[in-house]
Amino acid sequence: MSPAFVLEVQTSREEEELVESHEYHDGVKHLCERGLAKVPRKYILPALERPFMSKKDGATNLKLPVIDLAKLQGPDRVHTLKSLSKACEEYGFFQLINHGIASESVLNMFQAARKFFELPFEERSKYMSKDQSAPVRYGTSFNQNKDSVFCWRDFLKLSCHPLSDVLPNWPSSPAELRQAVVNYSKETKSLYLMLVKAVLESLGVVEKAENADENDSCDHLKEFEDGSQLIVANFYPSCPEPDLTLGMPPHSDYGFLTLLLPDEEVKGLQIQHEGRWVTVEPIPNSFVVNVGDHLEIFSNGRYSSVLHRVLVNPFKSRMSIASFREFYWIHGVSRTQEQELPGV
Ligand code: OGA
Ligand code: NI
Repeated sequence: MSPAFVLEVQTSREEEELVESHEYHDGVKHLCERGLAKVPRKYILPALERPFMSKKDGATNLKLPVIDLAKLQGPDRVHTLKSLSKACEEYGFFQLINHGIASESVLNMFQAARKFFELPFEERSKYMSKDQSAPVRYGTSFNQNKDSVFCWRDFLKLSCHPLSDVLPNWPSSPAELRQAVVNYSKETKSLYLMLVKAVLESLGVVEKAENADENDSCDHLKEFEDGSQLIVANFYPSCPEPDLTLGMPPHSDYGFLTLLLPDEEVKGLQIQHEGRWVTVEPIPNSFVVNVGDHLEIFSNGRYSSVLHRVLVNPFKSRMSIASFREFYWIHGVSRTQEQELPGV
């Protein structure tokens, strides 16, 4: 028996054991910790769905339109709202600079999440749950109950509403995690409201601040003040064969707007733009903001909830923090119900 053949037989036995033991449900990081030279079959996409199938895909990096929150809140508001509108129509994405969130909050959030993923597997696994509605969920892939091919991603999902109820369920280790998430979630909530107000104004749903009848304008916004918030820390370990798999498959986000803090050092987010996949160049100290399905529907299709996906790489792990908000009054609306929604 040639050595290559022996290796082949061993590999397929390991593969079988992996599938039989359902060990891939324990997460990619856990698999990688045992040392992997190849991507196990469970993570290998069919040839046509792999990331570098077309020559034009990923060949260019994309600088997203930049929206300056300081300008949005100042005398340049009208002009900035036009840029916001154009970005939401043409890209479904923009980068938000001068967002006003203390860099310390962002740093603490990243550090706490990173420390969580560095905990021993036994500690992390306490928070594993297949229940999609659990207030705390450590898990893997995109939808691990349904995915036939798994993605190269582990995550920690923390539901933040109502804070006093959910907080005792959040991981107690690392010690600084709870405080870091509370601070970050409070800060992003007010940022979120500023952005929602700008988006509504750009769509003509609420009037410009100076013309608006205060109460009328506030009524619309009140509907946006309540709602659930979900913070998701994504962890993408480095991958020995990044052309065979994806960190996240092509998807659009479900909610109204997503605020994403991408890893500043490691690229990976790609968006579908003008018929091809382009890699987003993150700008330091900024958020990547994208239109979700609810906003696409709310705007009657004027703003696009654009498909995006995540590449992995052989050199470095990657982390991102996404925050999603949903509003109860729009809950249950899906793309297929678009026609039933009243116009805006
Ligand atoms: C998401 C997402 C992108 C990233 O969490 O929905 O698209 O860069 N994340 O991690
Ligand atoms: Ni997404």
